[in-house]
Amino acid sequence: MRYLGINATFHDPAAALVVDGHVVAAAEEERFSRRKHGKRPVPFSAWELPEQSMRWVLKHAGLTPADLDGVAYSFDPELAAPIPDDPYDPVRIDYVRRAPGFIAEALPGLDRAKVSFVQHHVAHAASSGLAGPYRTGAVLVSDGRGEGHSHLAGHYEDGELTVLARQALPDSLGLVYESLTDHLGFLRSSDEFKVMALASYGTPHFTDELRECIHANGDGGFTARAPDWERFAPRRIDDGTWGGAHADLAASVQALVEETLVDLARWLRRETGASVLTMAGGTALNCVANSRIWREAGFDDVWVQPASGDSGTALGGALVLAQRAGDLAAPAPTAALGRSWTDDELAQWLTTAQVPFTTPGSREALAAEVADVLEGNGVIAWFDGRSEFGPRALGRRSLLANPMHAENLERLNDVKGREQFRPVAPMVLQERAAEIFSGGPIPSPYMLFTHQVAPEWCDRIPAVTHVDGSARIQTVSDEDNAGIAALLRAFGQRTGVPVVVNTSLNTAGRPMVDDPRDALELFGSAPVAALVLGPHLVRRAHLFADPATA
Ligand SMILES: [Fe+2]
Repeated sequence: MRYLGINATFHDPAAALVVDGHVVAAAEEERFSRRKHGKRPVPFSAWELPEQSMRWVLKHAGLTPADLDGVAYSFDPELAAPIPDDPYDPVRIDYVRRAPGFIAEALPGLDRAKVSFVQHHVAHAASSGLAGPYRTGAVLVSDGRGEGHSHLAGHYEDGELTVLARQALPDSLGLVYESLTDHLGFLRSSDEFKVMALASYGTPHFTDELRECIHANGDGGFTARAPDWERFAPRRIDDGTWGGAHADLAASVQALVEETLVDLARWLRRETGASVLTMAGGTALNCVANSRIWREAGFDDVWVQPASGDSGTALGGALVLAQRAGDLAAPAPTAALGRSWTDDELAQWLTTAQVPFTTPGSREALAAEVADVLEGNGVIAWFDGRSEFGPRALGRRSLLANPMHAENLERLNDVKGREQFRPVAPMVLQERAAEIFSGGPIPSPYMLFTHQVAPEWCDRIPAVTHVDGSARIQTVSDEDNAGIAALLRAFGQRTGVPVVVNTSLNTAGRPMVDDPRDALELFGSAPVAALVLGPHLVRRAHLFADPATA
């Protein structure tokens, strides 16, 4: 059985494919179109489909549209509640209603009757409850908005979902956070993580006054409406400065969102008695809140879908259709569900571009050379294997740097054109992680939780230790990513530090690198000392040396 999932209603358009009980491919449209988040989440863009990613997942599996048994579209227009303050929302809903026709047009050979609408939050829930490692457990979804709700709390029993609570709009933790993002001078529905980073610089002075607007209600639901932010701090112009009342406001809202999510998770724990919780929805990308839930909600384990934003509903939608057809898919053990190239193809890209390169010959030999560059404080562009599904670079499309030099934070933020209050995150060898980090789950392979850095390590890895002593870690084992694990070992042998800085492989305002051309363009435009392209290594020093002496 073959099921295609599509997310297109708001932003982060994406496609995913489930074939005979396996997640075989998933990709976000931004990686193809090179437009960050694919499109703006305005009503007039709702008709736009992730055409390139839809076609790619089919091509990857050697299928044609006529081969599909079903197509899931992760929003049900018949359930949509009107949004009173958005006069154009009916335009969005009308486009969504017409989506089966648009999809059939974009995928010639597809019978439009095979397109089904899947409830938005049911699709989010499936992306964690069915794609994650636990088929029985509690599930919590929270985001800006689905059809008429902003949240779903439920329970999976052997892959079967029972919904226990939903919070109706307009109460929405995601929309409150978006509204604050806008007030703080950032881009709404895009830059929410900047508010989370800014919060670390503030003191939550306003929580008592704001709590009437943001709190759990004790019945599985919550109140969350944006107040008049001007009462607390004037609208911020994004002029590169930060701090003061703006950071205090960010800290206050962050604290209340955490408190509310912890209360919702505790309620769910009491209602279900479940030992594990899985989570998805844009709010589940709030790593600080995730760690508090992990510590305080009473579950033995918490698993978060790495593609927790709307792109993940493409995956969840396809999984829902497969499950309904009795073809429950196996857990997806990795986020590496995107495009890849063979070693020979990568060599051909380099040859065509007339870029001199070496092929060290073994994983360890490559790791040793790269570790030498990192030890000498060079930045590495690392491109290896299938690209990641979701917003986090996890060692397939990463920029790597030495964590022992504090100035590397500023250096990487400059490369990426990011604000200097934004932290960069560490990758750590899984077997050494507990020595250095605590306060969150280990292993933590998807960078979805923050941990505290042990005091004796803060000065050793200053580039990845945030102002509040936290770090958003990714643990790496040989099973997760053997190439990065070898690199961490090699770097650890040289320095005693089994940690490297990992940030996504992109430059200012661009989506993450996906194909070799993107990687070469980045290498040509950013101060990167070396580019790893699969088993091949390009050194800037060689590239710009006299070919006769290089
Ligand atoms: Fe969503």
